[in-house]
Amino acid sequence: MNRRSDYYIGRREFVAGVAGVLGALIAILVGLPIIGYLIAPALRTGSTAGWISLVPLSALRPGVPTPCSFSRLKQTGWRRMQVIRTAYAILEDSGDVVVLADLCTHLSCRVHWLPERNVFVCPCHDGIFDRQGNVLSGPPPRPLERFETKIEDGQLFIYVED
Ligand code: FES
Repeated sequence: MNRRSDYYIGRREFVAGVAGVLGALIAILVGLPIIGYLIAPALRTGSTAGWISLVPLSALRPGVPTPCSFSRLKQTGWRRMQVIRTAYAILEDSGDVVVLADLCTHLSCRVHWLPERNVFVCPCHDGIFDRQGNVLSGPPPRPLERFETKIEDGQLFIYVED
C-alpha cells in the first residue's frame, strides 16, 4: 500500500515554489538599489552650510556698507540650482567688520543701501534700517540678520547656514 503523508509536495509544486522564492530574491536584489537611487535625492537635505570667502578687507571703506555678492549651490530634491546672494560688509572705525544680510526681516524682500540717507531701505513696504541693521521704521519685526565673520590673510569670510 502506497501511503503519502499529509505534508506531501509533488515535484511540480516543489519546483514552482523554488522558482517563486528565487524570483522574489532576484527582484529584491535588483529592485532595492533602483528604489534607493530614485528616492535618495528627495531625502537629501541639500545643506551647504559653511565658510565662504566674501571680499578682501582692502576693498572695504571705513563706515560704508559695501555690497558683496556670493553664490551657493542649493539642492532641493532632484533640483540643483545656483543661488546668487548679496551681503553688506561694513568696516567699523574700531576695525571690526559687520556683515548684514540683504533680506528684509518682514517678508524677505531685498534691502538696498541709500548713502544719501545713510539707511537701508526695503522697497516692498518701506521698511527702514540704520547702518547697523536696526529697524528705524516700517513693519520689519527685527534687525537685519548678521553673518558670523572671520578674517584670514586679509580676506573676509562669512558663515552661511544654507
Ligand atoms: S518685506 Fe521689507 S518691509 Fe515688508
